[in-house]
Amino acid sequence: MAESSNKIKIAPSILSADFSCLRAQVEEVSKAGADYIHVDIMDGHFVPPMTIGSLVVQAIRPYTKVPLDVHLMIEEPDKHIEHSLLGRAPSQIEQFAKAGADVITVHAEACSNLREVVEQIRKLGVKAGVSISPPTSPDVIADVLPYVDLVLVMTVNPGYAGQPFIEEMIAKISHVRKMLDERGLTAEMEVDGGISPKTARRVVEAGASVLVAGAAIFRKDTSISEAMKELRASYSD
Ligand code: DX5
Ligand code: ZN
Repeated sequence: MAESSNKIKIAPSILSADFSCLRAQVEEVSKAGADYIHVDIMDGHFVPPMTIGSLVVQAIRPYTKVPLDVHLMIEEPDKHIEHSLLGRAPSQIEQFAKAGADVITVHAEACSNLREVVEQIRKLGVKAGVSISPPTSPDVIADVLPYVDLVLVMTVNPGYAGQPFIEEMIAKISHVRKMLDERGLTAEMEVDGGISPKTARRVVEAGASVLVAGAAIFRKDTSISEAMKELRASYSD
């Protein structure tokens, strides 16, 4: 069942923020009523670009009370590296948990044992999310759904902000909503990629409960707070 529109959460993605004044941007989205702050982590392997690491999450943590929603677009996020001098280095998941992430979402395509990775995230006291890229069937996450706090359906191919929304993903959002509802599961359903006042209503009607938005929030032609209002108004009755 689709959420009533006033319960829909907005998660601005700081990938589109001005990194030269990131603290101010984080404070501004928080003041504008962001429900989550979405942080895109890319490793140059799972996706071509590299973005930021846990140090940046740690750096912004003191400046907002809004939950930090960390989207890991990285291969094997649970991998430990044995260092010849330093010994066992913490995995990326452990590093982001320690840095203050509230939700850590991993890609089904990037984990060899998804269920185990989800358990590891939860053991660290952090909410666990699983994500699927546009070509991936929702079947790959069917077994893990009862154990996650959030499902993230990508509506662009991961890697870049500002890409056009892939229309075919509307059917996938409805399908994942049905998978959750039929089993009485209460995980949040987040949608990420190409969300704007033009696409948000259809995404909400298909069953999304959290909207990630980068380019639609951090705009040159208007303030963050006006952009947030415009996005909310686009799907509210
Ligand atoms: C893309 C990222 C998104 C991105 C969304 O790989 O996961 O979170 O920032 O940007 P927009 O909203 O501009 O499509
Ligand atoms: Zn993202």
